[in-house]
Amino acid sequence: MAIYYLDDGLKEAFRLAKRKEKWALLESQKKATELMKKTVDGELSLAAVQGPPGTGKTSVVEAFAKEELPDFVTQSENELILYIAPTNHLVYEAFKRISAQLIKKGFDIQSLLSVVRVYGSKIKPMKEKEVIIGDKKLERDDLNRLVSNVDNNVRIIFATEFQRVSSRLEVEPKRIHIVADEASKSPYFRVFLPLAEKIAKNPEEYYPYTLLVLGDPQQAITVPEEFTIMDVPLLMKLTERVLKENDLKKDCWVMLDTTFRLPRPSEDPISHGFYRGKLHAHYTSRERLEIIKDSILDNISRITSALDKAGVRATSLDVKKIVDGIEEAITSNIPIVVVKTRPFKSGDTYDEERVKKAFIISSIFQLASHFSGYSFSVTTTAPYCDIVDSIAFKFHRRFHNFGSIRAPRAVTVQSLIGGESDVIVAPLGKEWLPSEIRYHPSEEFTTIYAREPELLNVQMSRHRSLMVVIGNTDRLMNQRERRIQRTVERLEELEGKGTLIIS
Ligand SMILES: Nc1ncnc2c1ncn2[C@@H]1O[C@H](COP(=O)(O)OP(=O)(O)O)[C@@H](O)[C@H]1O
Ligand SMILES: [Mg+2]
Repeated sequence: MAIYYLDDGLKEAFRLAKRKEKWALLESQKKATELMKKTVDGELSLAAVQGPPGTGKTSVVEAFAKEELPDFVTQSENELILYIAPTNHLVYEAFKRISAQLIKKGFDIQSLLSVVRVYGSKIKPMKEKEVIIGDKKLERDDLNRLVSNVDNNVRIIFATEFQRVSSRLEVEPKRIHIVADEASKSPYFRVFLPLAEKIAKNPEEYYPYTLLVLGDPQQAITVPEEFTIMDVPLLMKLTERVLKENDLKKDCWVMLDTTFRLPRPSEDPISHGFYRGKLHAHYTSRERLEIIKDSILDNISRITSALDKAGVRATSLDVKKIVDGIEEAITSNIPIVVVKTRPFKSGDTYDEERVKKAFIISSIFQLASHFSGYSFSVTTTAPYCDIVDSIAFKFHRRFHNFGSIRAPRAVTVQSLIGGESDVIVAPLGKEWLPSEIRYHPSEEFTTIYAREPELLNVQMSRHRSLMVVIGNTDRLMNQRERRIQRTVERLEELEGKGTLIIS
């Protein structure tokens, strides 16, 4: 279990503060920053920023911190910004990035310690007894302040959703501005949990003054079933509903429309599937594929002989077709490869053909990454543990023969929310509806594209350079869900331009 130490975070913040910014905000990010300003000013009480994959949601909070936070910290009295995110990692990252902005504006370590608080179950002040940060020697007591209670001086708190911030308030703030980041899956009550007790006792006085939600309802997957059964609304969906009902959506809702992760044109399928064609990509596949292209083309014979050594016969027709296909895709700067297979078998969440192909393809990229020395990341991601675990098992068994070469990562799509990788190998889950096949009780649960169409969006939006989809896209197109249909339609329309289909 990773522990996040705040002294490391502060050191990193001082390093970040020295860095020159390489880019400027885009138009939609400026609008979102403006929205955040207006909520903290009290002009709006509720607003939302919808951030599709890799569009820079946290960068918006960072931009706010750069432009407005120093004044907020020194001038506002009795007001607090409460930044909430679902994981310790996200909280720690935000703490670093936002502290760096304050440091840039001349805040020293002592003033940071007095205005910032950070709470998370895996967040600790420091490991050693002493530490030097920004040429000041600090002891454990100094850093303990960051996790201590909230007194009059504190202006910004970073906390995970589960932390009970209310019990740490020594003074009663006049206004609390909640910023809920990555809130796509947050239920309505959880963001308020820290304050819930006090709100219940004294609703008028304790109701948070403003609420800004950042997330993307189109990526809300693995929402616990209880929420649906108990009718607990998700925070972002509720926010959208409230804004719509009050005719405020056009003023209080901004969608970030440019992804910095997905290379053009591989954002196109999900853009049309999930965002009415409004999502664009900042980087081209040409620039993103350069390293991978060299890595594969320069090492193709080493890769195939290594595959042979691992028991994958590179001369077999199947493997040769795949290797040639990947070569063709990267030489023509195509960022999506679709490897067509039989439809997923009924009654199982394991599919031999997909596992085998995913193993071969991931290995090719991992070997290229190793041999070239560029060490780009390769991740296999599928919706079922059965597939992911089998691939991981194959990696562990076969990669023994490769000596120091590390096995690629294999994880479920559900655990990859928010994550990314240079190369993604994505075996699809069941592409059909339970009603299309003979009934099997487990089917209802495992045909998750039907249950959660957003899953396809998450699976198709994790790559920075290239994605290989393995499955039966013809079958997927038959789903009645429009978002899925549109995504697959566009995927196939890109053939020759952004998609290479190997069947
Ligand atoms: N305007 C921009 N131009 C170039 N890169 C950007 C811009 N805004 C954000 N980025 C980069 O995009 C990446 C994702 O940003 P981040 O704010 O962490 O996204 P999110 O919070 O939505 O996951 C970061 O590496 C960030 O530096
Ligand atoms: Mg973020």
